[in-house]
Amino acid sequence: MNFHVLTLFPEMVAQGLCTSILGRAVQKGHISLETVNIRDYTTDRHGKVDDYPYGGGAGMLMQAQPVYAAWQAVVNKILGKRPAPDPLLPNDKTGEERRIRVIYVTPQGRIFDQGLAQELAQEGDLIFLCGHYEGIDERVLDTIVTDQVSIGDYVLTGGELPAMVMIDCISRLVPGVLQNEESAEYESFHDNLLEYPQYTRPEIWEGKSVPSVLLSGDHAKVDQWRLEQAEERTRRRRPDLYELHSREKNAYAFLEKDRLGHMDMIEVIRKRQAEILYAGENGVLLRDLPSGAWMISAADMDMGERLLSRIPRDCSDPLFAVHQPFLRDSICRRFQVDEVNACHQAVYTRKSPLPEPEGFQICVPNETELDLIREAYGPLEPEEYLLERIRLGKMLAIREQGNLAAFAGIHAEGSMGMLHVRKAYRRKGMAAALEIRLINMFLEKGDVPFCQIFEGNQASLALQKKLGLRLASGRVYWIS
Ligand code: ADE
Repeated sequence: MNFHVLTLFPEMVAQGLCTSILGRAVQKGHISLETVNIRDYTTDRHGKVDDYPYGGGAGMLMQAQPVYAAWQAVVNKILGKRPAPDPLLPNDKTGEERRIRVIYVTPQGRIFDQGLAQELAQEGDLIFLCGHYEGIDERVLDTIVTDQVSIGDYVLTGGELPAMVMIDCISRLVPGVLQNEESAEYESFHDNLLEYPQYTRPEIWEGKSVPSVLLSGDHAKVDQWRLEQAEERTRRRRPDLYELHSREKNAYAFLEKDRLGHMDMIEVIRKRQAEILYAGENGVLLRDLPSGAWMISAADMDMGERLLSRIPRDCSDPLFAVHQPFLRDSICRRFQVDEVNACHQAVYTRKSPLPEPEGFQICVPNETELDLIREAYGPLEPEEYLLERIRLGKMLAIREQGNLAAFAGIHAEGSMGMLHVRKAYRRKGMAAALEIRLINMFLEKGDVPFCQIFEGNQASLALQKKLGLRLASGRVYWIS
C-alpha cells in the first residue's frame, strides 16, 4: 500500500508515522509514505497558497491551483507518466486517474470506521488531501476528490492528524504490517464486537485469579468463552454495536440456508455497505446504500408482507431486488411498478483465480465511449448510471484498432454485469476475457464474484458454466 499525503505540513505527517510499527512496516516495504508539500506547487511568486473567500467571511481558503498541481504530480508519478504539459489546466481525468482514490479529510465527510478502513486497505495507492485554514476551494474538490472522510464530530485545526489516524488504522490491515496477522482479525470491531478480556502472568495478582477456562487447555471452550465475553461486553458497553452484531448474525443465519441464491445479500452485508433493517428467522430486509436498492428475502408470504410494510410507500424511484415471486407480485401492486427483470444468480465459489487468456488488452472505457455503450446496452440501464460507472472506474473494455469492441463492469451493489460484445467482434473470446478479469479482481479484493443473468440469455448462461460459476436454483427479481 502506498500512501501519498498532500499537505502544507509534510514534516508533521512524516514524523508522526515513522516510528514503531508503521516505521518498521515502511522499512520492510509493506507500506510506503510520500508526503507532498502543496506549497511546492503554487505558481505564486511569493509561495502563497491561500486567499480570501469570495462573498466575504472569516479566514482564508486554500486555492485550487496548487492543490490540483500537487495532485496531478502525484498521479503522474503513480502512473509512471511524464508531467502534464500545463498543470494549470484541469482537464478531464483519464480512467486510470479516476481509479486512484483521493480522500479529502474534512469534518463534513462520512465518519471513518473499521469497515471503511477495511475497504481502503484493498487499494494499491491512496491519496490523502489535508486542508488547512477555513478549507479548500470547492472547484478543485469537485475535480479530484473521490471520498470525503471525517474522524468524528469535532473540529481539529487541520487535516494532518485525522489523515494520520486513518493511515495508522488502514496500515495495520495491510498484510505483513502486524507481525501476528491474526491479531488484526480477532479484535475489537470484528463482527461488530468489542474484544474479550485478556490476562497474562501471574496467574493470581493481588488476590485476583485468571478465569479458570483459560488455563484448561481446551481451545473450543476458550473460543466459546471469549465469544460470550465479547458479546456480553458489547451488549453492556456499546448497545448500538450489539444491535448491529445481532442483526448481522440473524441475517447470515437466514441467508446461509441458500448461500448461492442469497450471495447478493450476503456480500453487501459482509462489505458493510447495506443497512440491515430487519433480520429474523423467516426473512431479511436490507437497504443497499450504494445502489439504494431494497433487498428482500422471506420464507413465506406473511413475513414478506411484514417486511414490505417497513418500506415507505411514497419512496421515489424505488428499486428492489427480491428473491421470491410472491414478493415480486406484492411489490408490483403496492408500488405500482411493472418493470421486472427475472435473473439467474451465478456464483464463482472457488478461491483460485482463473488463467487470463492471452491477446486481449483490457483497458478502461472513457466518457467519449458512453454513446457506444448506451447503444449496445442502453435500454437496460439509464445513461446517468452508465456514466457514473465509467467515472468511478467500474467498467472494463477491450478495443480493437482503437474501436470499442466489448465492455463489462461492476454494478453499484457489487455484482459483475453489463457484459456486452458488439456484433462485429463476437466469437473471439472477449466476453470470457472480460469476465475472467473481473473474477480475478474480485478475488484479489477478497470478494465473492457473482453475477445475475437475465432469464433466457443462453449465451451468458453458457459462459457462466464454462467459467465454472454455480447457478442458484431460484431467481432474483429486479424491480424498478
Ligand atoms: N479536519 C478538522 N477536523 C476534522 C475531523 N474531525 N475529521 C477530519 N478532518 C478534520
